Amino acid sequence: MSALLEIDAVTRRFGGLTAVDGFSGVVRRGERVGLIGPNGAGKTTLFNLISGFTPVSSGEIRFDARVMAGMKSFQIARLGVGRTFQNLRIFPNMTVFDNVSVGAIGAAGHSVWKALARNRSAAETVSAGTWAALERTGLTDLAGQLAANLSYGRRKYLEIARALALEPELLILDEPAAGLNDTETAELAGFVEGLNADGTTVLLVEHDMGFVMSLCQRVMVMASGRKIADGTPAEIGRDAQVLEAYLGTEEGT
Ligand SMILES: Nc1ncnc2c1ncn2[C@@H]1O[C@H](COP(=O)(O)OP(=O)(O)OP(=O)(O)O)[C@@H](O)[C@H]1O
Ligand SMILES: [Mg+2]
Repeated sequence: MSALLEIDAVTRRFGGLTAVDGFSGVVRRGERVGLIGPNGAGKTTLFNLISGFTPVSSGEIRFDARVMAGMKSFQIARLGVGRTFQNLRIFPNMTVFDNVSVGAIGAAGHSVWKALARNRSAAETVSAGTWAALERTGLTDLAGQLAANLSYGRRKYLEIARALALEPELLILDEPAAGLNDTETAELAGFVEGLNADGTTVLLVEHDMGFVMSLCQRVMVMASGRKIADGTPAEIGRDAQVLEAYLGTEEGT
């Protein structure tokens, strides 16, 4: 499998704190990869670097062999990287449809709002992407509802729908199972498997070990900003450094 995402010695500092520390890793086309690690390990920061929400301090990230340095988040989204947020970024007073349209439009920046006013085909593209994402996530019938009226479980799918609106080749999910019950978590695993089977490469952060280990073909482990392990779920499960990183925390359960 060819490399889709390449993270090469990436570091991100916030003042004196090194949140991501020389992290290197690859996600190949078609893979389902998990990223795990204790609270504060740097997982969300790494996602922010990949999706262009935060610039790297040093190192390089390539998507589809293209260097992403200096690109804005909406440009990276257009290239084919969709993401969700650990804290859902849903507009409660907007409809489900409009929340997803923001993924198709907002990711493209203000200029596209203007273009949409002038250009019918751009508007149709946004609308088509939005309906396809709603269909995919089972939200079509709720399109006209205010997002505030959705259950928490449905809101998580709404967050994913927005990331899918631009038909990303790589989907990165930050704690998609957080707050879901066992039934919902199992349903989500099936949903992500389906997306992956249809060609979407998946990289996800999750604290639910059962979810990660059953869904992902490969797992990268992060602690204090560094990658401490990278392997199959079975390899990760018996890695001494990983067990040590989780010892004394509640996250390994
Ligand atoms: N914008 C920021 N400014 C300063 N420090 C930050 C910023 N973002 C993250 N950090 C710090 O970087 C470290 C890594 O945080 P990050 O959110 O990436 O961890 P995480 O692995 O996602 O944790 P969790 O599992 O709790 O979500 C933490 O010490 C955090 O406080
Ligand atoms: Mg996080």
